[in-house]
Amino acid sequence: MVKYFKNYLCQNLYFMFTAADFIPNKYTSTIENGNFEWSAPSNIALVKYWGKKDNQIPANPSVSFTLNNCKTITKLGFSKKSISTSLNVTNDGFSFDLLFEGKPKEDFKPKIQKFLERVEVYLPFLKDYHFTIDTQNTFPHSSGIASSASGMAALAMNFMSLERKLNPEMTEDYFYQKASFLARLGSGSACRSVKGNVVVWGNQANIQGSTDLFGVEFPYTIHENFKNYQDTILLVDKGEKQVSSTVGHDLMHNHPYAKRRFAQAHENLDKLIAIFENGNLDEFIKVVESEALTLHAMMMTSIPYFILMKPNTLEIINAIWKFRQETQIPVCFTLDAGANVHVLYPENVSEKVLQFIQDKLVVFCQNSQYICDKIGHGAIAL
Ligand code: DP6
Repeated sequence: MVKYFKNYLCQNLYFMFTAADFIPNKYTSTIENGNFEWSAPSNIALVKYWGKKDNQIPANPSVSFTLNNCKTITKLGFSKKSISTSLNVTNDGFSFDLLFEGKPKEDFKPKIQKFLERVEVYLPFLKDYHFTIDTQNTFPHSSGIASSASGMAALAMNFMSLERKLNPEMTEDYFYQKASFLARLGSGSACRSVKGNVVVWGNQANIQGSTDLFGVEFPYTIHENFKNYQDTILLVDKGEKQVSSTVGHDLMHNHPYAKRRFAQAHENLDKLIAIFENGNLDEFIKVVESEALTLHAMMMTSIPYFILMKPNTLEIINAIWKFRQETQIPVCFTLDAGANVHVLYPENVSEKVLQFIQDKLVVFCQNSQYICDKIGHGAIAL
């Protein structure tokens, strides 16, 4: 009956996924060894994910621009274990080596171990192989740019490539949806780093196909104004964050403003549907900057409270507001869970904005460092 209902929905509306849809049936093929390599980009949220329920289910929907240059490149080597080669077998029976920029990196292993535990039910072959995970980022190490989104997305793509070998009938849609689903279990925002320029994650009544389970490409019209939208990332503070995202998400439980904030994220996402269609950059700026400041306001009003912005973050924000006021150039900022500032602007004002960044903002960056990025398309098989 349940199955029938689902098919009925599928024909008449759209398929309503559940996590159980990603538990595979018996595999039809086998493979002994080999390797895959994928790059996956970082992404910058316009409506922010901040707060989650069990199993990496977001407390509110979010939407992001996929980036192009800030990427993780991960190579996955795999070979079928025979009983005698159970080297490096951890307590749970997962067997993997982790290399970062070609060198063993023990401190990344617990995160991978946790990821493997979370996804094992969806990738039942994981304990049958020994894996070598060789990963590197295109952006500088400890730049304050989170590599969890791109890193988990790149790893998920590789595991899906392996699963596709075991189940060659898999559809392209299933491949990408499940990759995003797996990436989400590694790090929530990673599910928005798999496919598409503009990606929505989380149930939103007015966005057909949107789901809490994985990211989907924004399915409606996107105005020319957003084509090749630029993101220059100003590296204000490259130090270790005092409070991790995981702790921050947790503090949204029992947060005095949580309920209103989650409702606001839905409202802002609805506003963006219209803005993406009509290309109104003034309205875009209002939503995006408000989202960034609200994210940080949630941090400042949680118990315990904390501040991730630095004095130079505020200097940059004020300089952007002044420049925008004086020139009417539609440049704005957004923030992640850190002190760095993402400067967002349309391609046709690039030259003027880059000059402004050079003249007025670089002075606030650590070692004058910034990264020029723009909207990209998602993960790429190498
Ligand atoms: C502020 O995806 O890093 O960047 O699911 O715990 O890994 P986990 O959190 P993470 O949180 C990202 C939060 C954010 C906003 C966003 O990207 O939407």
